[in-house]
Amino acid sequence: MTAIDHLFKNNRVWAEKIKQEDPTFFKSLSEQQNPEYLWIGCSDSRVPANELLGMQPGEVFVHRNIANQVIHTDLNCLSVIQYAVEILHVKHIIVCGHYGCGGVQASLDTESYGLIDNWLRHIEDVYRFHQEKLDAINNDKEKVNVLCELNVIEQVANVSNTTILRNAWKNKQDIKVHGFVYNLHDGILKNLDVSVPN
Ligand code: CO
Repeated sequence: MTAIDHLFKNNRVWAEKIKQEDPTFFKSLSEQQNPEYLWIGCSDSRVPANELLGMQPGEVFVHRNIANQVIHTDLNCLSVIQYAVEILHVKHIIVCGHYGCGGVQASLDTESYGLIDNWLRHIEDVYRFHQEKLDAINNDKEKVNVLCELNVIEQVANVSNTTILRNAWKNKQDIKVHGFVYNLHDGILKNLDVSVPN
């Protein structure tokens, strides 16, 4: 048995379990997807979109990257948003960060982590926008967590300012953008109440 054989074993068990609950599940899902939600979250292995929302395959369209960022020149993220909005017609876009995010934390220290330093530079910009507020926090953990929230709020603004969302709203498309933060310690999502339109 190789080191990855158990993955295929787990997969068979999973597929069998779903088929037992609903014999037509894979057949109907293979014919179309109709998710109402686009999730833009952190790549962190502890923040799995479907599981924490209690959602089945087919219910949420997902984009994840380190520290859940929406960068205006990132064709990967923009393509996901465009497809979700214009083709799938999702009703909600959720930007979800999480407290204790390693990417956010790394952006605060002076250590170099290689190529990713460039990606995290965007969070340093968020820091600079809110420097006075953040510098007033003495507790390092709390500072990271406040920056995690501010980063989500910034990314909600970035999604809302894409040409994709601007056009969707101009065309009266029913779609909202939301900002959530996930707590690794208790599995609970917090709504930051920064939805656009509110
Ligand atoms: Co993270």
